[in-house]
Amino acid sequence: MKNQYFLPLSLFAFLVLGLTITALNAEIIDDDTPVPPVGALGGPDRELDPAELEQWIRGRRVFDRDWRQSEGLGTPDINADSCRSCHQKPVIGAAGGLDTNVTRFGFDNFGAGPFEDLPGGQVASKGRRPDTPGREDADSTADIFEQRQTPSVLGLGLIDTISDLEVLSHEDPNDIDGNGCRGVARMIDIAGVMEVGKFGWKSQVPTLSDFLRDASTGEVGLTLVDDGRGFGLLSDSDSVPDPEFPPDDFADMLFYCAHLAYPPRGGNPDPQVAVGEQLFDEIGCSICHIPSMEGTDGPVPLYSDLLLHDIHPDDFRGMGEDGAAVGFYRTPPLWGIRDTAPYLHDGRATTLEDAILAHEDEASIMMRDYFALTAEEKEALILFLSDL
Ligand code: HEC
Ligand code: HEC
Repeated sequence: MKNQYFLPLSLFAFLVLGLTITALNAEIIDDDTPVPPVGALGGPDRELDPAELEQWIRGRRVFDRDWRQSEGLGTPDINADSCRSCHQKPVIGAAGGLDTNVTRFGFDNFGAGPFEDLPGGQVASKGRRPDTPGREDADSTADIFEQRQTPSVLGLGLIDTISDLEVLSHEDPNDIDGNGCRGVARMIDIAGVMEVGKFGWKSQVPTLSDFLRDASTGEVGLTLVDDGRGFGLLSDSDSVPDPEFPPDDFADMLFYCAHLAYPPRGGNPDPQVAVGEQLFDEIGCSICHIPSMEGTDGPVPLYSDLLLHDIHPDDFRGMGEDGAAVGFYRTPPLWGIRDTAPYLHDGRATTLEDAILAHEDEASIMMRDYFALTAEEKEALILFLSDL
């Protein structure tokens, strides 16, 4: 049944073409673009003083900027020429539709396993690894590819304030409490020190800054100044002097992303929303989608534990990585999901209900209780999720 998700590789060229076409849209921010109110969708997370507001506005323009080849844009093997081309639904900085999916390749012996990386890694984009063969090479040896949906950047500055200890305190790898959930933190070696991965579908990146560096090289093909943490390339083979990303511009973009407000609740006054919220807790969705974690600046209402879980069936095929085996994904934060359809790492779920129905394995007990709900209760649950 799952086979429908493994599109023939010949369709890949078609997907790339679709992405290229949508990525060609132009900049949407200029000096007159209003700044949304504090706490609103796409607005700053708090009152900024005048100097901070200027930096935030500059950072938004960097995020929106269409990079040129003469500035270091990696060609021909980049995914887009700006961050905005993928992160803009429903506002700049937010998520992207299916047409902005990024594709990863691998080899898993036609489903028999074990999963293996191809020479050159999973992503055949210019900046990924210097020895990456062309997309055509990856295409001919891969027997599986996985789509990755573009998540929203809104609120990630707050997630950045959640300490490693707070994430680790929710781990339960041996399922001591017997609820079926075996959440584990993804540990990443940063210059010899293990840090908790909090960002990306497989929790593969520890900090927001690390992710912006990774995306700057991996998506847009830009080189960066060395910060000693190993994300993003420091040099490449084009004729533009490195680092291509001016450090001040990068600092502005980081400030903007770090101070993007988390998506506010929808505010639906229907009393069924509260009923749905209670059911979400009662049937155990909140065990993985923890409504709020502690950050250093206060509570972070993200609806995630930032841990890896396997909620997929045994015959699931997908990418494996050191520390995040096939089938394991980070519990996605649910704040803002009313605007980010389709759902799951590859966008296979068109509706919230489809996303719920895809939960198995570690979520089996919760799904048993979900199926026992009445039609009205299921509706209330969806109403609650649609208000996030
Ligand atoms: C081709 C589309 C595309 C472009 C262009 C793009 N991104 Fe992304 N972005 C993605 C996808 C897909 C992911 C999920 C990656 C994963 O985890 O596999 C992502 C993830 C992220 C995340 C982590 C989100 C989370 O919830 O953990 C951040 C931050 C981010 N991108 C910032 C940027 C920045 C900054 C740029 C520009 C330098 C950029 N992106 C350009 C598609 C894109
Ligand atoms: C064992 C932990 C766990 C439990 C319990 C759980 N989830 Fe999830 N949830 C996940 C993971 C992991 C994903 C991402 C899977 C993927 O992308 O392949 C996910 C994805 C989702 C998504 C899609 C989010 C997006 O942005 O794509 C929704 C909606 C969701 N869960 C709602 C629920 C509801 C409602 C319940 C209770 C019935 C529930 N979950 C129970 C771990 C869990």
